[in-house]
Amino acid sequence: MSNSKVGKCPAPTLPEFAFIGRSNVGKSSLINMLTERKNLAKTSSTPGKTQLINHFIINDEWYLVDLPGYGYARLPEKERKKLKAIIENYILGRENLTNLFVLIDCRHKPQQIDLEFMEWLGEHQISFSIIFTKTDKISQAALIRSVDAYKEEMLKVWEEMPPYFLSSSLKRKGSEEILGYLDEILKKVS
Ligand code: GTP
Ligand code: MG
Repeated sequence: MSNSKVGKCPAPTLPEFAFIGRSNVGKSSLINMLTERKNLAKTSSTPGKTQLINHFIINDEWYLVDLPGYGYARLPEKERKKLKAIIENYILGRENLTNLFVLIDCRHKPQQIDLEFMEWLGEHQISFSIIFTKTDKISQAALIRSVDAYKEEMLKVWEEMPPYFLSSSLKRKGSEEILGYLDEILKKVS
């Protein structure tokens, strides 16, 4: 089901996990990897592909939710604001949101827009985890450096680093860890 309004999403009776992050970070690709379906969530090399809140029901028991990305600079101001409102209303209004995954491109230095977004989540007591995406694009050593730099930046504000995962939708890496984590959470809430 696809919606622009949180009020029109499926009845909030099942736990759900949503994926958020900058446009093009790989949210939709990650959902396809986790579900082992090539084109369940629509992907594109052009940022701004996902424009709606997309619910995918898994085993009739829980939902995965693909969200629009934030911070795509080339989008007209009005469109950017519209997407921001969709995202914020969803996150604050969705009572069955069990965990939010914030996706970060592992190649980049910590970006203000992501750090501020996570602080906003903290202010609203939304529990989240981080997924560093596109790990196939850099060497193992560069990945370690990048994650260390991120930890250092996060620890300036947060008491501890939230749970985090490394993924590559291209090389199909990270799936087991992320699904195992979802499983643990589902066992606790059901
Ligand atoms: P929006 O819906 O526009 O916000 O983007 P998104 O975050 O859903 O990104 P999407 O999954 O559409 O992927 C964006 C681009 O990155 C596509 O060209 C993908 O093929 C590519 N991509 C996604 N994940 C990976 C990855 O793990 N490795 C590599 N090399 N490319 C990836
Ligand atoms: Mg998308």
